[in-house]
Amino acid sequence: MINIAVMGYGTVGSGVVEVIDTNGERIAQRIGDALNVKYVLDIRDFPEDPIQEKVIHDFETIISDDEIQIVVEVMGGIEPAYTFVKRSLLAGKCVVTSNKALVAKHGAELLSIAKEKNINFLFEASVGGGIPIIRPLNSSLTADEIEEITGILNGTTNYMLTKMFYEGADYASVLKEAQDNGYAERNPEADVEGYDACRKIAILSSLISGQQVDFEDIYCEGITQITVEDMRYAKAMGTTIKLLASSKTHAGRLGAMVAPCMLYPDHPLYNVNGVFNAIFVHGNVLGDAMFYGSGAGKLPTASAVVSDVVEAAKNLNRNVMTMWKEEKLRLEDKSSMKR
Ligand code: HSE
Repeated sequence: MINIAVMGYGTVGSGVVEVIDTNGERIAQRIGDALNVKYVLDIRDFPEDPIQEKVIHDFETIISDDEIQIVVEVMGGIEPAYTFVKRSLLAGKCVVTSNKALVAKHGAELLSIAKEKNINFLFEASVGGGIPIIRPLNSSLTADEIEEITGILNGTTNYMLTKMFYEGADYASVLKEAQDNGYAERNPEADVEGYDACRKIAILSSLISGQQVDFEDIYCEGITQITVEDMRYAKAMGTTIKLLASSKTHAGRLGAMVAPCMLYPDHPLYNVNGVFNAIFVHGNVLGDAMFYGSGAGKLPTASAVVSDVVEAAKNLNRNVMTMWKEEKLRLEDKSSMKR
């Protein structure tokens, strides 16, 4: 059995528990072992929810429990998430996170600790919700020099702009709808000012460039100035308005930005509507590729988190097998020396 601790029982945290409950058997077949949520760390209690028996309020319980092999951080924000994640990695526990603020700010340091400890620090859900993009960039697309990534990386603003375009809806009412649907950040300023998309493009830019790209260095403009009238004009011109996050490399230099852009119908991102995200990638040998899917929301995001847990668990098993084989070889070697 692989014991995990989930830190944060909000929208994504409860989704993670639900995905493990729903697909636990299938996941166990894939890993060759069952996943067990041993603890859920939160400052709140959930008396109406059966999860309550696993709820703890002190991180020390997790760090001091050697049975916990994988820690899932879905609390959001920088602190205390950063301290908890760093301490977990230093204690040799794999970490999976959906926290783009954390990854954008401390990703390079946390990855280097994980590398040193030969464990996983995985963050698929930090960009594009349920869309696989981090792992493809780290595996299937590694033969390429990625020259461009342009995406719709924020579900809330795409939902809002879609409603404004097709229904002539006004900004305030569509923001309220996005919040009610659980797409928006706790502080929706992060969505509408473009900061959320900016952190995501900073993460992707860091991955493709192999250098830490700080989101503070990226030009960032959100959708707060877009009016019903702007949208009407865009429509009259045969275009739509989308919040794009883009990163391009040219002659070894990388430029990135987040801004609302007018797109003609022949643009690959024109028809990406509602809460969906899409990421267009251009590689120097691959050419073009598109990744499309649910970019926000409880279960799509939880699906990406749990896929990382599965990946970490498989690697744990591989490491255990390797250790076991090494130990077997060592013993065989010893006994042959005696002979
Ligand atoms: N608030 C984010 C969005 C959630 O709307 O895309 C997923 O990162």
